[in-house]
Amino acid sequence: MKAVMTMEQKLYEDTVAYLQKLQGGDAGGHDPAHVLRVARMAVRIAEQEQADLFLTEMSALLHDVDDRKLSPETAAAHTHARVFLRAHGIDEEPIIHIIEQVSWKGTDSAVPDTLEGKIVQDADRLDAIGAIGIARAFAYGGAHGRVMHDPNVPPLLDMDGETYAHHVSTSLNHFYEKLLKLKDSMNTETGRRIAAERHAYMEAYLQEFLAEWDGRR
Ligand code: ADP
Ligand code: NI
Repeated sequence: MKAVMTMEQKLYEDTVAYLQKLQGGDAGGHDPAHVLRVARMAVRIAEQEQADLFLTEMSALLHDVDDRKLSPETAAAHTHARVFLRAHGIDEEPIIHIIEQVSWKGTDSAVPDTLEGKIVQDADRLDAIGAIGIARAFAYGGAHGRVMHDPNVPPLLDMDGETYAHHVSTSLNHFYEKLLKLKDSMNTETGRRIAAERHAYMEAYLQEFLAEWDGRR
């Protein structure tokens, strides 16, 4: 399942156990499987881009442990990530720096200033689009009590970070508010190529969804 061994087996296993403890059972698209896919994709891109594989993989594995949607009380201080890195004697700052720049914040989203950060951001965003991205959007919506679609609620395009953080919308609107924008936000060539395929798949899906919704099919 793992593409490259960038860290000792024991450290990898400890990390997976930590993810299981913090994110295990999340039904909103942020379960450990999301994180492991992001880490695998990030390593795959890092190999193409000749980036630091360990820094890339470790940052990817910890990118959601203090996410403000999942763990608002530790988000500002990155407590979960810091505690884990300290316990394993790993230099915290380069990894925290990457994690801080990864997340989608609408028009306030950062373009990471390190190659490894760019790669982790691409990998995280690739997991938000395509077949799995579609499933995650509806899973997130369901877990947060949102309706799938309401033609009377228009999408809110070009939100800033604060607006995005508090905006409650339908799952279908999330495609127009975020997911369809991700293709043009890719930092790496590999990211752009994979995003283009997944984007096309998502557009076809949305056409079919709306046709069935309207009774045109
Ligand atoms: P980020 O922190 O960059 O937003 P995450 O890895 O935390 O990235 O994943 C965010 C994913 O969660 C979205 O791509 C989507 O699948 C789901 N999600 C977030 N907000 C919504 C929403 N309002 N409606 C549906 N899905 C959402
Ligand atoms: Ni994520």
